[in-house]
Amino acid sequence: MMTYHIVTYGCQMNVHESEKIAGILKTKGYEREGTLEEADIIVFNTCCIRENAENHAFGNLGALKKLKREKKDLIIAVGGCMAQEAGKAEILRKKFPFVDLVFGTHNLSELGDLIDRRRARRKAIVSLKEERAETEDGIEPVRTSYPNAWVNITYGCNNFCSYCIVPYVRGRERSRRAEDVLGEVRSLIGQGFREITLLGQNVNSYNSDGQGGMSFPELLDAVASVEGQFRVRFMTSHPKDFSEELARVMKKHDKICKLLHLPAQSGSNRILELMNRRYTREKYLSEIELLRSYIPGCPVTTDLIVGFPTETEEDFEETLSLVREAGFASAFTFVYSPRTGTKAAGMEGQIPEEVSKARIMRLVEQVNENTRALSATFVGKTTEILCEDFDEKKGLYLGRNEAGRMGYFASEQNRIGEFVTLKVERANGVSLFGEPVS
Ligand code: 5AD
Ligand code: SF4
Repeated sequence: MMTYHIVTYGCQMNVHESEKIAGILKTKGYEREGTLEEADIIVFNTCCIRENAENHAFGNLGALKKLKREKKDLIIAVGGCMAQEAGKAEILRKKFPFVDLVFGTHNLSELGDLIDRRRARRKAIVSLKEERAETEDGIEPVRTSYPNAWVNITYGCNNFCSYCIVPYVRGRERSRRAEDVLGEVRSLIGQGFREITLLGQNVNSYNSDGQGGMSFPELLDAVASVEGQFRVRFMTSHPKDFSEELARVMKKHDKICKLLHLPAQSGSNRILELMNRRYTREKYLSEIELLRSYIPGCPVTTDLIVGFPTETEEDFEETLSLVREAGFASAFTFVYSPRTGTKAAGMEGQIPEEVSKARIMRLVEQVNENTRALSATFVGKTTEILCEDFDEKKGLYLGRNEAGRMGYFASEQNRIGEFVTLKVERANGVSLFGEPVS
């Protein structure tokens, strides 16, 4: 029996893409996922959003040389954002001549044919496409995150935030047709999935190309109107496209998790402008206020970057104060990483690493304070979680509540895939521990 092994770097978008890669591999006779050592094909699904994501992939690829030497028929394929990045395919080929196949983000659906070609001619293949209009409909993914299922609604990004490489490697924004999205959702609910996460670089601009057929709030409304017991999440929202309509739809449906992931990136208007984010701190805060006028206390999570070129201590402190003022439930925090080809990489005033490192430590401390404060509000109360896994180390089942808090509990029976009401006894960071009462 032939097996595959996929190594995924980066975001949820990539996690779902790896599920599609697995789907393609299945059609090519690779029947199941195996370990790295036993696999007949190894696929690296890479990310290039920050330098450390690339370094990770480079490091792990180097380690495959020995495997390839011992196992001549092994196919090693490298795909995803880093492979698509300008000039990276050549670097990959030079550094790792034993790689059999390099494919980009725009030709995922051709992976099956590329594997056939590689098998037929035993010569390395590099296949990259500039841009594609079509989406990946038609590939049946091998789902790995039950009871959650990822559903793409858009691909690519039009925003060109000055630090970000995504628009260069994933191309312009393309929306899937609403009826295709809804068809997929209905089918997933029919198969027993209990959580649908709608995915896009910027879900709020869904249908910007007119291909969707309806706006994002309308699509969300339609998805949440599908019959069945499940909940809906979506990510990521861009503050420049947030609308009152979205808040209204979120309030309307119990099925929609009351949580908004709204990347702020910085709290300083000067930096936001340099980042080309097209909103101000004030606008950002007014959006959260509007959301919370519909959904009192609605948790908001965010992404923040420190050390963007020219960021001063004052700019940074505005980010710190934004964390307090917005009351973020949690945040992903990043040190700015210059990406070749982006506008910010060529800016004057790059910040020394030690300054950025000191800032991120202070930022993480502030975020942790917020995290603890929100988690503490659950103690002594009940909260509903969707049980998604069993933690072997802790010997406890776990799952998230709608605010994204991870709830842990002991159970004799397997509760994975069930909604469980927990009476929360204590909290630690984003984790809640409790007793199931249903
Ligand atoms: N450096 C650091 N963080 C970045 N992000 C995007 N590009 C960069 C970069 N060059 C962060 C942003 C984005 C998240 C997915 O990654 O915060 O929201
Ligand atoms: Fe990158 Fe900005 Fe697009 Fe997000 S919205 S993917 S940060 S360019």
